[in-house]
Amino acid sequence: MTRVFSGVKPTGHLTLGNYLGAMQRWAAADQHQADALFCVVDLHALTVDHDPARVRRLSRQAATLLLASGLDPELCTVFVQSHVDEHARLSYVLECVATDGEMRRMIQYKEKAARERVRGGSVRLSLLTYPVLMAADILAYGADQVPVGEDQRQHVELARDLAVRFNQRYGHAFVVPRATAPQVAARVMNLQDPASKMGKSDDSGPGIVYLLDEPDVVRKKVMRAVTDSGREVVYDRDARPGLANLLEILAACTGGNPSELSGAYTSYGALKKDTAEAVVELLRPVQDRHRELCADPGYVEGVLRDGARKARAMARPTVDAAYRAIGLLPAGAGAEVPVTV
Ligand code: TYM
Repeated sequence: MTRVFSGVKPTGHLTLGNYLGAMQRWAAADQHQADALFCVVDLHALTVDHDPARVRRLSRQAATLLLASGLDPELCTVFVQSHVDEHARLSYVLECVATDGEMRRMIQYKEKAARERVRGGSVRLSLLTYPVLMAADILAYGADQVPVGEDQRQHVELARDLAVRFNQRYGHAFVVPRATAPQVAARVMNLQDPASKMGKSDDSGPGIVYLLDEPDVVRKKVMRAVTDSGREVVYDRDARPGLANLLEILAACTGGNPSELSGAYTSYGALKKDTAEAVVELLRPVQDRHRELCADPGYVEGVLRDGARKARAMARPTVDAAYRAIGLLPAGAGAEVPVTV
């Protein structure tokens, strides 16, 4: 059976980009078709300047939203990364397979490191090695599919490269994974700046729709989206990025096709209005369920506890096998090795 792994990083409130690029498919398709694990990857949230209490709060909120989005613990495994030691254990071994040149080529590293430097801050070493930890997240579970948005494709490619390299050097230990992205809305753009991704870690702003935004806030943000000069409604990502973004959001919310939808509109105003309503309707059940789950924190904790137990049992044998393959002495074997001085 196909094994799926994916995750969200609790560095900010989850956005419409997270939902359309990843979470929507996890709940609608992946958990039904595959042996699937979904993770709040909290160790990744420590790679940039962070407030411990906020990371804890956002981790709990992300887990609650994963369940609110329709992930069913009877069908899939939902857990928190730091509850399973195997991620960090495997990450170190993969660092011994990756090169520093590879790390420095990662687009997200270059962008985030540049941003930190502009702010006058220092760049944490973990920001550089982050993609190796992400590879460990995936490889520890033998995942063959990784449903992510477009921005994570390069990181999944690295996980592939590391799996292949490890297998060639030390013997087969890892399944080689591949990224799967949605047909539309694989890269939802900021409504105020269609040249930038709608990112949760960015400063909050009118261009980002959060999953927990009130309906009127969503409406206001969509109605004020920056569109391009021109009057016809056409779908052209290069020439009309603002408009294309709205058409993609509408298409992803309604299951339509952005190009076909463009033909149904003669004004930007009508398109914005329909897009705003489609987003409000998409988020409504998620917000309702989120409210219910917040009233029952014991349930969410129980799901995460069971999830971590299941995840640990799945990852342990693979990580143990990788340790043996790369030359580390199995624990408990020391007594059998004669000591010669
Ligand atoms: P993160 O937390 O930034 O995003 C979670 C998922 O949402 C997708 N996404 C988007 N899709 C479309 N448009 C957008 N504007 C948008 N913003 C985010 C992301 O592509 C992602 O699928 N490094 C990962 C987390 C991670 C992970 C993993 C993912 C850690 N280990 C192992 C998969 C497998 C990240 O920062 O995602």
